[in-house]
Amino acid sequence: MDGNLFGDYQKLLRVEVMGRQIEMPERNTLLRGLQFAAPDTIPYGRFCWNGSCNNCTVTVRDGSCESKVQACTMDACDGMRVTAISGEIRRLL
Ligand code: FES
Repeated sequence: MDGNLFGDYQKLLRVEVMGRQIEMPERNTLLRGLQFAAPDTIPYGRFCWNGSCNNCTVTVRDGSCESKVQACTMDACDGMRVTAISGEIRRLL
């Protein structure tokens, strides 16, 4: 895997995805972070990586609010909670 794919990061974030703690590099989108966690599968998914296919749609919970977002366009942040994932991500994680 290309070591520069995830950019210049100093630390790993912890993101909860469907109850599972996943570490991913800071300063990356959520989908790129999932690729970091599952490098053998996520790169081969049906993802456009540019916001047009919606195959990466996830639900992010912030307090009592839940929002549907595209994992390829939203930056991951420490403590983020993902409570629902697309079928394509589920198939690959
Ligand atoms: S990968 Fe296509 S919209 Fe995110």
